[in-house]
Amino acid sequence: MTQQRVRHLISIDDLTDDDLRALVARGAELSAAGGERAGGRRPLAGTVAGIYFSKTSTRTRTAFSAGALRLGAQIVAYGPGDLQLNTGETDADTGRVMSRMLDVLVARTAGDPAQMREWAAQERMAVINAMSAEEHPTQALTDLTTMLRRFGRIDGLRVLYVGEGNNTATALALALTRFPGVALEMRTPPGYGLPAAYRLGAVEQAERYGSSFLERHDMDGLPDELDVIYTTRWETTGTVKPDPRWRDVFAPFTVDSSLWEASPKAVFMHDLPANRGDEVSAEVLDGPYSIAFDQAENKMHSAMAVLEWCRPADGSPR
Ligand code: CP
Repeated sequence: MTQQRVRHLISIDDLTDDDLRALVARGAELSAAGGERAGGRRPLAGTVAGIYFSKTSTRTRTAFSAGALRLGAQIVAYGPGDLQLNTGETDADTGRVMSRMLDVLVARTAGDPAQMREWAAQERMAVINAMSAEEHPTQALTDLTTMLRRFGRIDGLRVLYVGEGNNTATALALALTRFPGVALEMRTPPGYGLPAAYRLGAVEQAERYGSSFLERHDMDGLPDELDVIYTTRWETTGTVKPDPRWRDVFAPFTVDSSLWEASPKAVFMHDLPANRGDEVSAEVLDGPYSIAFDQAENKMHSAMAVLEWCRPADGSPR
């Protein structure tokens, strides 16, 4: 293989504003095309994508696998017990070796993204973060793709996020606050808020881009006339809460239909998987406000946009 420039996606912060808008727009375009998927194109023909998930996944793993296949790539799948990382091979050596055989590596580790940065310390193989401990960037791209499909814009949306300040929340905050006029409010249980660096990053970005960001740890005085009400499962994949009474802290943060009294036009979004009766009532998740399953489908359209984008810029075969 000849050496080519590739693009890595390990954090939303890796994207320029143009990249972010283009990826969301392309995901929405693919989503709108529906069954046509990539319009019959096979831009990844002749490439090989590694799909390494050391943690469980239904949507993201399927989205990237199906997306890569639809774009013409072949895939090699690895589970949690498969790589010599388990026997002590270094991350640097793992990245060096894989980059000589793969064109793209899509990885979920639920660990420190610094590991993915080590894999990405080469210019042959694109590394895509399919979820790490602190950030889930491809989820945010899916979420914005879904909002763009629904509203025709991201700018100016009024979004309420309710629940843990987890890796979905951090990526959402980093992405949404880059769009002027967005009002993003997060209501997170006390002790389970955004990590400080992400909170400060969102505040700083909101000032710079003309959006607004607020995080509170209660459910009083919620904003009205919202466009989107968003929540996530309380037990994020790959995590355990040490406090045995954590459910008591989370209980006031359940999303139910009462939230629509002040925001009758809001749509409901959820990254899934869901636990009905915990973070959301069944009435909301399965009701008329919910676009959560369209959002799940958009994971594949958005994954296809990411896979197209991360290929060598000149589009030449490898
Ligand atoms: N939302 C999400 O990442 O789903 P999976 O864990 O099923 O991939």
